[in-house]
Amino acid sequence: MPEADVREEKNFHLHIPQTNEVYPLKGCNNLDWGLKNRLSQIFDPKTNKTVMLAIDHGYFQGPTTGLERVDVNINPLVPYADTLMLTRGILRSIISPSFGRGIVLRASGGPSILKELSNEQIALDIEEAIRLNAAAMAVQVFVGGEFESQSIHNLTRLADSGYRYGIATLGVTAVGKDMARDAKYMRLATRICAELGATYVKTYYVDKDFDTVTASCPVPVVIAGGKKLPELDALKMAANAINQGASGVDMGRNIFQAEAPIAMIKAVRAVVHDGVSPEDAYDFYMTEKGGKT
Ligand code: R5P
Repeated sequence: MPEADVREEKNFHLHIPQTNEVYPLKGCNNLDWGLKNRLSQIFDPKTNKTVMLAIDHGYFQGPTTGLERVDVNINPLVPYADTLMLTRGILRSIISPSFGRGIVLRASGGPSILKELSNEQIALDIEEAIRLNAAAMAVQVFVGGEFESQSIHNLTRLADSGYRYGIATLGVTAVGKDMARDAKYMRLATRICAELGATYVKTYYVDKDFDTVTASCPVPVVIAGGKKLPELDALKMAANAINQGASGVDMGRNIFQAEAPIAMIKAVRAVVHDGVSPEDAYDFYMTEKGGKT
């Protein structure tokens, strides 16, 4: 036990009102401390943005190009990611437990690429998410899909348990093959996710009116990278999304399928966190690539 504090002279700073910090992430100020703390492991508190490295593709399509050997291909990228989005299988088997930032666990699944993808179930207990020290659970939501209601029910059940224990829920808008990927659809899907409890939402960038998607979604929006693009185009997409209100990227193939993945994730970080123009970030990428990163 410490000795009794017998000093009489104390300083209560009576003229300084206690500060009430406003938590700066969009729509998140009223969340509890633990949830905000976990969100701060996903969104860098210096910029309130995130570069999530998405490597969960294997949960429905097996060893995706670039993810054949996560230990070989992805571990070198891990230090540059704000957050990893992955399955519990890859987390336990390959990722170092010394990883100190946010983990976003894939929490829905079921059908493989050979079946109807919208027929997902919850694929993770909240106890498992707590055990693995997850910051968030990611659930696919198929608005307009064959199993739309079931996938939304997956989201609401995960959000219920997430809010109970202070773990965020990421609603992932999954667009069916035959559906139009336009702002109207993204507004609908992101808003439904947010209204029904998603702490933040992942969607696709659309060229026209993406700012209306972020404006009408009351919680942070991050964009998926989508299929592999030329590196400059991927950087332009990230910059456009950030400039139109996105809080970050959840990028997979455009990083791990790039010719120089470490250089690419560094370039994406420059765009997302430092506001570097896509052209300058691309020059940086080419320079780093020359240096074999
Ligand atoms: C898709 O459902 C996967 O969960 C990925 O996390 C997501 O598509 C982001 O990866 P990519 O940037 O490769 O599209």
